[in-house]
Formats: sequence, structure tokens, C-alpha cells
Amino acid sequence: MKVIAHRGFCGEYPENTMLSFKKAVEDGCDELELDVQLTKDNVLVIIHDETIDRVTDGTGNVRDYTFEELRKFNVRATFGDKYGFNPIPSFEEYVSWVKDQNVTTNIELKTGKYYYENLEEEVVDMIKAYGLEGKVMFSSFNHLSLIRCKELVPNIECGVLVLKSGIGNPGYYVSKYNFECYHPDMEGLTEEIVDNCKAHGVKLNVWTVNGEADLRKLYDWGCDGIITNYPGFCKAWLKSQEGK
Ligand code: G3P
Ligand code: MG
Repeated sequence: MKVIAHRGFCGEYPENTMLSFKKAVEDGCDELELDVQLTKDNVLVIIHDETIDRVTDGTGNVRDYTFEELRKFNVRATFGDKYGFNPIPSFEEYVSWVKDQNVTTNIELKTGKYYYENLEEEVVDMIKAYGLEGKVMFSSFNHLSLIRCKELVPNIECGVLVLKSGIGNPGYYVSKYNFECYHPDMEGLTEEIVDNCKAHGVKLNVWTVNGEADLRKLYDWGCDGIITNYPGFCKAWLKSQEGK
């Protein structure tokens, strides 16, 4: 079961920062998950919310700032000043680092609330520029974004993100659009849904999985990956199951 670090190692470090990504790799994750959006001057940046209010010391929409303006804010999340100054990373800063790391990346296109024109093209261009086609996958709650990604780069896997209500017959839905993965919320997931996906050859990466009881359940159901705030803890638990 693949361990995917949610916004990096966000259980211990400010989410979606280079510090969080580096610590997740040190903690042994297999894959990093991150969220991308666009600034006012069309720079790809890594941040979860459409506004900077929750995670930084500033306020306002990501799309209303230039990259230079955004870089002045400190991503503190819930950690206050514990980790000093950590700026919002550009996606290019991330890919230029991760290309030399032994991990893959789950790029979540944050187009669910606000649709950034050309976000998919910008992301694909950056991936190609750094030769990362074989080390990334896409995910999004906006499935139209995934359709666009498939048009641009059919060979890169796509994960269909859904909220806890899920969708009916997900294996059929995901495979019908030639996507590879279903990314449901742990809450609301049943073994029946897992089996439905498997019957259609669809892989499951489940979020957000931080505790042993959920790990056990997903492991027994044969899920393919878990998206977690605590990658090292999950890797250690999986290792403890070897040979049992
Ligand atoms: O990819 C799983 C997870 O990141 C989706 O939800 O809101 O944390 O981006 P969110
Ligand atoms: Mg995400």
C-alpha cells in the first residue's frame, strides 16, 4: 500500500511548504500530495485554499496577488512561529527539487471552487520542462480538469477526488472516462465500494488516513494507497504487518 504524504508532512510542519515536503521525504513517504493554483501574474503556486487567510499571516485571494507579493507572507498554518519563515512555494521550485528525489507526486488541481483558465496547460508544461512525466499523477475534485489533463497527456494517471458522499458505481464512472484511480474520503467508504472499483480495474487512494484502525481496514480491503498527514507512522505500521 502506497503512502502518500498529504500536503507534505502536514501533521508536523506547515502544509504545502518546501519544509513540509522535505520532511515527508525524510519520513519515508512514497509519494507527495500537493495543491496547485495560479497567481495574478500566472505563476503556479502550491497552496490549498483559494485564499491565504487560513495558512499565512496575510489575507485575500491567491489569484489577486502577484507571485512576488505572495512570497512575503509566512505559511504558519497551525504552528505559529515555530518553524520561522516558510514562503508559499512556486510549483517550479518544487519540481526543480523533486526531480532528484526518489518519490512520485500527486498534483491536485485546485479548480473546484474557482476555475483557473489554463491551469492544466501550465502544470503540464512545467512537468514536461523538467522531464517528470513518469513521476507524477493528477487528481482533482473538478473532473473536467482531469478530462483536460487526459487530452494533454493521456499517459499520466488521473485520480477522481470525491467528498464523503462519493459517487454511485465509481468503478464504472472512473473507467468510463479512462481515468485510473478513485480518491474517496475515508468517511463513507465501504468494502463494497472498494470491490466495485477493483471489478473495473480502478485503483483506490483514500484520504485522510492517520490512525491504525483505518490503516488496518484499508489494508485488509486491499486498497492501493493512503493519503496521510503522518507518513512515517503509516510506513512503520505497514512494515509491522510484513510476514504476519
Ligand atoms: O488528495 C487528497 C486530499 O488532498 C483532498 O482534499 O482538501 O486536502 O485537498 P484536500
Ligand atoms: Mg489536496
